[in-house]
Amino acid sequence: MRATARAQPNIALIKYWGKRDSDRNLPAVGSISVTLEELYTTMHVELDAALDLDELLVNGHSAPSMLPRVARCLDTVLGAGRLRARIISESNFPIAAGLASSASSFAALVVAASGAGGVERTADELAGLAGKASGSAARSLYGGFVELRNDGDEIAVCSILDGAAWPLRIIAAVTSTTPKPVSSGEAMETSRRSSPFYSRWVEEQDMDLSTARDAITVRDFGKLASIAEHNCLKMHSVMWASRPPVVYWNAATIACLERVRQLQADGVAAFFTIDAGPQVKVICLPGDESQVVEALTTTPGVESVLSSGIGAGAALMTAD
Ligand code: PMV
Repeated sequence: MRATARAQPNIALIKYWGKRDSDRNLPAVGSISVTLEELYTTMHVELDAALDLDELLVNGHSAPSMLPRVARCLDTVLGAGRLRARIISESNFPIAAGLASSASSFAALVVAASGAGGVERTADELAGLAGKASGSAARSLYGGFVELRNDGDEIAVCSILDGAAWPLRIIAAVTSTTPKPVSSGEAMETSRRSSPFYSRWVEEQDMDLSTARDAITVRDFGKLASIAEHNCLKMHSVMWASRPPVVYWNAATIACLERVRQLQADGVAAFFTIDAGPQVKVICLPGDESQVVEALTTTPGVESVLSSGIGAGAALMTAD
């Protein structure tokens, strides 16, 4: 009746932005990500017949505003007639600030809830359930370089390459820990409805996915760098041109991009990506990590710098 699971966030190299079916939370485009290693969410779920209502603690605090989405996810995993649950979530990195905490949280939640309910599920089934709560969460069920395909009626996720086969480093420059002004789910819908660039974004995605997949398979860093930066800036252009505009960046975000350009000019193998928040994530070869960390740490407006390798997917830790 209780279980604990752990999952890592993932950082998209080819982004998911836009839904083709918002009721079923099906993405309009496929995406490719890397699952992180050192950042994680630990999720404990305890089903209790004595509870009248679900209870949620996030990093030690009651979180009623997050409860409806969590409860809906539990209904999907265990059925609407399920027992009420005590849910305890702990993340070792800032949440709701563009560091993909919803991905690690919902991936860990579906694994812990299935464990607590005594239901055996495959990684694909768990990915499908996590994806209903948060599209990017489906990718955190798998480790390494992960692709989410968008061609069937249900999403399909697979690992393209193990992290050990290409142990890149991911360095996140945190430029603000204030929760984002608009959720990614809401912002995607705004883009779909109003951005003049949205249809072109969807049209070009298969080409970007194929370029990135090829680059990962043959471990071509330059090719991956070029397509990932392009795809990231294209997604943010779609957002900026939405009405109302969706702008997650701050001055330090731009200062970090400038710093990455300088590193590249100095011959450092590094590239940036940015999600639905102001943080800048830089991907680099292991030998260049200390130079990237030093450059980001000294960039004006950067509050902290977190480093991670590429990790494994979500896992059940205990169940009884
Ligand atoms: O899974 P969501 O609804 O939090 O959306 C994620 C959107 C981006 O992080 C901007 C891109 C991505 O593919 O992760």
